[in-house]
Amino acid sequence: MTLATAHLRIRRGSGDEPPRYDEFAVPFEDGATVLDALIWIRAQRDASLAIRYSCINANVCKECTIAIDGSVAYACTTRLRADRVVTLEPLPGKPVLRDLVADTRPPRERLE
Ligand code: FES
Repeated sequence: MTLATAHLRIRRGSGDEPPRYDEFAVPFEDGATVLDALIWIRAQRDASLAIRYSCINANVCKECTIAIDGSVAYACTTRLRADRVVTLEPLPGKPVLRDLVADTRPPRERLE
């Protein structure tokens, strides 16, 4: 079995910081997803990477929704690719909490 390598460029930091990006090379087998890669990065490279997910696959919880190359998609169902760098960012139009985690609560529930 041969492993391919995905190159992921990931937005880091909180919403009130200027955006910066870290790049990670992630080995993967055919069929692996962006969420698989994010979990691997946290376990093998950078435990401080903030991500959110719950069900792990199949669009059940929708917690893993992020922007993948500018399009909103589920990290748990988007397949990794080895042919180019893929950019991951938090959901657009939502306050960024940290890294790939945005505040998805409805505005009415954000009373502080
Ligand atoms: S982790 Fe639940 S839909 Fe992706």
